Amino acid sequence: MDNRIENSESTAVLSARNIVRQFGTGRNKVMAVDNVSLDFREGEVASLVGESGSGKSTLAKIMLGLLKPTSGEVRYYDEPLSLTTLREKRSYWRQVQGIFQDPFSSFNQFFKIERLFRDCLYLRGERVSRQRERELFAEACSFVKLKYRELEGKYPFELSGGQMQRLMIARVFLLNPKVLIADEPTSMIDACTRSTILDMLLKLRDTNGMSILFITHDLGLAYYVSETLYIMDNGVVVERGPAQELIDNPSSDYTRQLIADVPKLHEEWLTA
Ligand SMILES: Nc1ncnc2c1ncn2[C@@H]1O[C@H](COP(=O)(O)OP(=O)(O)OP(=O)(O)O)[C@@H](O)[C@H]1O
Ligand SMILES: [Mg+2]
Repeated sequence: MDNRIENSESTAVLSARNIVRQFGTGRNKVMAVDNVSLDFREGEVASLVGESGSGKSTLAKIMLGLLKPTSGEVRYYDEPLSLTTLREKRSYWRQVQGIFQDPFSSFNQFFKIERLFRDCLYLRGERVSRQRERELFAEACSFVKLKYRELEGKYPFELSGGQMQRLMIARVFLLNPKVLIADEPTSMIDACTRSTILDMLLKLRDTNGMSILFITHDLGLAYYVSETLYIMDNGVVVERGPAQELIDNPSSDYTRQLIADVPKLHEEWLTA
């Protein structure tokens, strides 16, 4: 599969500018993100790779506007983020969506599936008839190979982990944001379902021109899906660049170690 496209000239959709995020103070101080800048272009698939605790999710939350940076700023189409009013938040989350590690904690378990979908239409600012609503939900479900009529009336906890991951992607399909930040979206599921989920996300990029930032500790997976890699260690982006170049010619010891930890990287992913 070739997901690499030449678009280095295209516009930066989302940028992080000198983002710093500190937790705690004194001896308990943690620099979760330490002066990270990156530009994320239209239609680009990039991955942020690093070991546990390297600051990936913290950076993701900041870029999603869910957490404030200690300093630095996030820019959306070169405008600094301003998420003071509900209207501004709705408008931003309509364009920049996140999916997270644990689908169980991402959904309100008291809401039935149709309510979870309806919230997407609300975020889109659309009011449609019940009939049209069912058509849209069914279309979103069929994109992820789920049957809406089998889900209608159910609660999230009545679904399997894999079904729930698909449901998250169905919601993304319905929302059709400009940018998707996917934080370890496949960590809860088996390898077979994992590649299906990744392919579905990449299909969204191909059909809707969505930019996707994958966040993972799995360099093999990141290499498989992305054109650009950012390697993060201890809050710092230690290396960045086109995926192939970076794997062929790593410049930092940390990246070399990550590559060594994926012994079959080349055979396995090149032939996938
Ligand atoms: N709310 C918080 N309060 C205090 N420390 C935090 C908080 N959130 C994150 N941290 C710390 O910041 C650092 C980075 O955490 P983060 O969750 O961003 O890492 P990560 O790269 O996403 O790890 P993982 O791969 O395990 O998900 C860690 O040392 C973590 O303990
Ligand atoms: Mg994380």
